[in-house]
Amino acid sequence: MSTPLQAVRGMNDVLPDEAEQRLWLEGVLANWFARYGYRHMRTPLLEHTALFRRAIGEATDIVEKEMYTFTDALNNESLTLRPEATASTVRAAIEHSLLYEGPRRLWYQGPMYRHERPQKGRYREFYQFGAEAIGFAGPQADAELIVMCAALWKELGLEGIRLELNTIGSSEERAAYRADLVKHLQAHASALDADATRRLHTNPLRVLDSKNPRVREVVAGAPALMGYLGEASRAHFEQLQRLLAAAGVSFTVNAKLVRGLDYYNLTVFEWISDRLGAQATVCGGGRYDGLFAQLGGKPAPGVGFAAGVERLMALLAASGRAAPGRQADAYVVHQGEGTLEYAFTLAEDLRAAGYAVVLHAGGGSFKSQMKKADANGAALALIVGEDELKAAAVTVKPLRDARPQQQVARAALAARLRDFLKGS
Ligand code: HAM
Repeated sequence: MSTPLQAVRGMNDVLPDEAEQRLWLEGVLANWFARYGYRHMRTPLLEHTALFRRAIGEATDIVEKEMYTFTDALNNESLTLRPEATASTVRAAIEHSLLYEGPRRLWYQGPMYRHERPQKGRYREFYQFGAEAIGFAGPQADAELIVMCAALWKELGLEGIRLELNTIGSSEERAAYRADLVKHLQAHASALDADATRRLHTNPLRVLDSKNPRVREVVAGAPALMGYLGEASRAHFEQLQRLLAAAGVSFTVNAKLVRGLDYYNLTVFEWISDRLGAQATVCGGGRYDGLFAQLGGKPAPGVGFAAGVERLMALLAASGRAAPGRQADAYVVHQGEGTLEYAFTLAEDLRAAGYAVVLHAGGGSFKSQMKKADANGAALALIVGEDELKAAAVTVKPLRDARPQQQVARAALAARLRDFLKGS
């Protein structure tokens, strides 16, 4: 016998118990986004590699080492499984002139792919849901996105998620800052690790969020980006903070928060939980006013966020907020001459009336079928034997409590079943 194949490392099967929880979450998300006027949108899993190189930046971890990139041999083009969806959303917005009639609020959800080292909360295929408010320049959109996240955590009953906020200014302001930062880091070159030394020349701002204690010491003495901001950048950040305060959303300003994608300017933020271990960031986002032009579109502002579904599910489980799975209302057991046809059409009639009904398959004694009914989790067993067939009836047996079983005329069953279910 050949060895059974397994899923690709870092890519998870989502089995029914969790998959049903996710369906439930998706329903919550769709309602929540609709309440804020965000419209749903979908983009392909595969994009031209150049899209992510241009949007996310050549000197980022994602582009340097985490992309699933391959050559499509049929037409010799380089394609990449999307590592995130902001680039795709902006590409689609340009391609379909989505801003023609004014700004847009958009949301998406689906799988993303990053070739990272898998661990709890970090996978190679993971799901995100995210929002992009495109065409909005002021801090109001930034605030709206952040406040809506706070409302979602509340609706889901999640506690202990804190907000970190920063501004990284405009690209001109960052360029001036970068020069001084590099000077400072070079002056302490001996304390930098290999990663920081490499980034010094490619992406020095990323050294700011190094986890290495020695590098952090150097960073602590570095000039602060805030001091390089002009009037407009400061005003944007201050107004954002005022709106958040007005909405009662608390936050800390983390001057070292820079995020791992290069398209950001001005606002950046992360929602972080203390209950997730090392992979603590549930949601991250920020403003990307240069991205449209960078991708060849007419310049337009944008701001958005994305949240990791697996991390959110782990938080829901940790908070005991698991949603109930959808169990069948009834499980139909049948035995005897002519009962399969009777049970088969009965189940179909009940489904048409809106009930969730499982019809036993595979024969067996009533006893063994009843065991299956019990294990299925259904609220009721519907028993069809030759007696029921003759009487044009069905025996209804509650499975989750001690109520006695009862014979009901088949013609009345669809109407009566509701009462049986209420009592269960
Ligand atoms: P990101 O910070 O790269 O941002 O990812 C957002 C969230 O996705 C993270 O906070 C985390 O919860 C989840 N996530 C990321 N990588 C993994 C992984 N390997 N395994 C499990 N979960 C993961 C973005 O992707 C930006 N597109 C967000 C954005 C939208 N900015 C503006 N608009």
